[in-house]
Amino acid sequence: MIPLPVARQASGGATALRVGQIETAYGPVPKLFDEFWTAKQRQMHSLHYALSYRASFKPELPDFFIRQFSRPGEVIADPFGGRGTTVLQAALLGRRGISNDVNPLSERITYPKVHPVALEDLEARLARIPLDQPRDLSREEDMSMFYHPDTYREILNLRDYLQTHRDDVDRFLEMIAISRLHGHSPGFFSAYSFPQISIPKGNQVKINKTRGVEPDYREIKSRILKKARTTLKDGRLDEIITSGRHVRLTVGDSRDLRDWPDSSVNLVVTSPPFLNQVDYVLDTWIETWFCGIDTRSIETKVVQTPDLGEWMQFISDTLSELHRALVPGGKVAMEVGEIRYQGELLNLDETVVSLTTSKPYNLGQFKVLGVYVQSQEFTKLSNCFRVKNNVLGTNSNRIVLMEKI
Ligand SMILES: C[S@@+](CC[C@H](N)C(=O)[O-])C[C@H]1O[C@@H](n2cnc3c(N)ncnc32)[C@H](O)[C@@H]1O
Repeated sequence: MIPLPVARQASGGATALRVGQIETAYGPVPKLFDEFWTAKQRQMHSLHYALSYRASFKPELPDFFIRQFSRPGEVIADPFGGRGTTVLQAALLGRRGISNDVNPLSERITYPKVHPVALEDLEARLARIPLDQPRDLSREEDMSMFYHPDTYREILNLRDYLQTHRDDVDRFLEMIAISRLHGHSPGFFSAYSFPQISIPKGNQVKINKTRGVEPDYREIKSRILKKARTTLKDGRLDEIITSGRHVRLTVGDSRDLRDWPDSSVNLVVTSPPFLNQVDYVLDTWIETWFCGIDTRSIETKVVQTPDLGEWMQFISDTLSELHRALVPGGKVAMEVGEIRYQGELLNLDETVVSLTTSKPYNLGQFKVLGVYVQSQEFTKLSNCFRVKNNVLGTNSNRIVLMEKI
């Protein structure tokens, strides 16, 4: 078996490295279990926590793989960019980044992270935007279950302003406003709701009814500024802006990364959509509405399949595209979870490993170097959805490390 690098354990030795193996046609590959990075929340740069995103990974995950398998100046890519965790961490570590996602929302929320602005500039800009202009709300989308009419008026005025003002300060402002659209504390614009998911209007009506509340007025400027302050608190802006100049963002299907040049990527750190776990279009409808993104064109491309064979074909086609874009010897660290499939627990890492040896799918374009299983007691998400870790859902990180051959 190939020895794999293992960083100092984040647990400080509280958990011990366990090594197993997966049998493949070209011999056994190691499967390592440990707490490779901390289970604690919010330990990395504050920009990572600018906003919630469904099924995003902790920044510690790309940090671990970027440090171990790349050098400064090299190109780190993510074909399923989501909220841009991989490219932000790449920028923070002095690497170049490429991020892609089929949903244009990803580009909207990733760009500001790698082009951050000073708080004073944001404050000055906000002061100039006329948020209190009158609006005829009867002509607008009905959002009365989420927002007080005065809050909604401010949101609509900001939304209109952002359609025609797009410099880096405006774009940062947009990202912070997106992060405040719905949530469970007074820091959000909405009545009590879910921060990670845009829930359907009917569900919000039910929440309001159960709680016996109507949306109260939430002035938006002060909330945006407060969130911007915490997002920017870890500084290093000049460094990030310099690295950010080398970040490329593309919008498209992971099976057709035509804007990614051949043999240009050193390391991919990514997490694909899992089997039927998350509806990335429905679950972000308030965000895409705010950004004016028409989601009809992406609905057919966002992969949300309950069919294992279809999912394997999708991953295989994506891997073929990544193979083209990688330099010889370039690597892919692909994070997948364990899921319930037809009543059984299915470890998708083993499914991905099987792809590299099964003829109909991969034809051996990649060699699996190993699988890392991040083992920890619980995650915040598993706790809040009352999901028992390692039993249901996708709560353990399983990362398949592959090399282009
Ligand atoms: C598990 S999430 C990635 C989260 C990301 N690692 C982060 O930390 O934010 C998967 C992403 O894949 C995107 N996606 C779904 N189908 C896609 C496709 N066919 N091509 C590219 N991206 C796709 C979704 O929009 C979603 O953002």
